[in-house]
Amino acid sequence: MIDGVYKVSFPIHGDEKGSLIAIEGNKNIDFTIERVYYIFDTSPNVVRGKHAHRDLKQLLICMHGSCDILMDNGLERETITLTGPDKGLYISGFVWREMSNFSQDCVLMVLASKKFDTADYVYDYDEVLQSALQARVGGERGAM
Ligand code: TYD
Repeated sequence: MIDGVYKVSFPIHGDEKGSLIAIEGNKNIDFTIERVYYIFDTSPNVVRGKHAHRDLKQLLICMHGSCDILMDNGLERETITLTGPDKGLYISGFVWREMSNFSQDCVLMVLASKKFDTADYVYDYDEVLQSALQARVGGERGAM
């Protein structure tokens, strides 16, 4: 997977009453949860996101239904289908993301390491490409 991105499975505490999942900041995930938001009632033909974050860690969980998450760090591009309340997708680093193919019943919850800050958003994909290119050139120079 892309650097700084991984899938995670949460243990389900299940008994005759049903199922429960607990997520604790700095325990199941490596950040303090500063913000929670969720996306729902999104049409299947809509593409959301289309941005990268300068400095944000996020955990995405599709609480209900399903959706696709595209991630691109300028070098690699990957799309995964997120479904199931026990499955999470952790994204950190300078990664372009797009969410699409929302099922009608999709509820996508996001836990974030920082409060909402428009200055953290990058809407220009070229900036992600440039950053990847510079990191690559820097790496090659370092290896010389
Ligand atoms: P937007 O960034 O367009 O959502 P997406 O990235 O899923 O396409 O956000 C929609 C609106 O919600 C926009 O007016 C900003 C607002 N918003 C908040 O107020 N707080 C938040 O934490 C987020 C993620 C969005």
